[in-house]
Amino acid sequence: MLSWMKGVILAGGTGTRLHPLTRITNKHLLPIYDRPMISYAVEALVQAGITEIMVVTGGTHAGEFLRLLGNGHEHGIDRLSYGYQERPGGIAEALGLAERFVGGDRVVVMLGDNIIERSLRPAAEHFEAQRSGARVLLTEVSDPSHLRHLGVPQLDEQGRVVHIVEKPEDPPSNYGVTGIYFYDSDVFDVIPTLEPSGRGELEITDVNNHYVRQGTMEYDVLEGFWGDAGESIDAYYQVNDFVRLHGANKG
Ligand code: TTP
Repeated sequence: MLSWMKGVILAGGTGTRLHPLTRITNKHLLPIYDRPMISYAVEALVQAGITEIMVVTGGTHAGEFLRLLGNGHEHGIDRLSYGYQERPGGIAEALGLAERFVGGDRVVVMLGDNIIERSLRPAAEHFEAQRSGARVLLTEVSDPSHLRHLGVPQLDEQGRVVHIVEKPEDPPSNYGVTGIYFYDSDVFDVIPTLEPSGRGELEITDVNNHYVRQGTMEYDVLEGFWGDAGESIDAYYQVNDFVRLHGANKG
């Protein structure tokens, strides 16, 4: 068990790309195959040995998360906390709400609409071995039109990240940054220094580029399938089809 690392699952936001489904419920409660979407993020963290978890949600239907997850014990969580984001001020703002929960520990953050085929455990172990800083999980993406919707790292000859570009016109590599991020507790000093972006949000890419500039950003490339079920209705169904046929969070 990774007792020094806490988990934060972000399940706020507005989910406009899945309208009208998300007019009547929270995106992370929509079904993926036979379970509500957020169950997969919970399972991914628990399976990686992370058993103290905070779920940050927002908007309406926040109470349904409590109904689904309760105190977390049935799902393998030792301690489950809940946070509430008053308005969708961005992924980094949502993470900021977990400051006291995380305390001086390290944290793995998972966006509640991300679904992965394989275990997070190897990456968590690599972060355990890392002295400080941050670590992101990348996924190989061959389609440039898909990369234009993601954060894309620019890599140098040694394969180190030199910059992460959000939604690039001209993608600098064939990797997308997934919604799974590892941080040391300094992340809570970084978040208050951020300026809201053009869309009025505190951007997680700005947090990640802080660590890139500091020279403490590492990464792993995820093996197997990765999907963002909130990207579009088509992506939502692609993720559903994948999970129905192949499952998720396999060891
Ligand atoms: P996004 O998919 O970037 O935003 P969204 O969920 O509001 O959807 P859309 O762009 O279609 O309107 O968010 C990624 C994840 O981060 C998602 O799982 C929800 C979470 N999130 C929060 O918890 N708080 C926030 O303020 C935002 C913007 C996102």
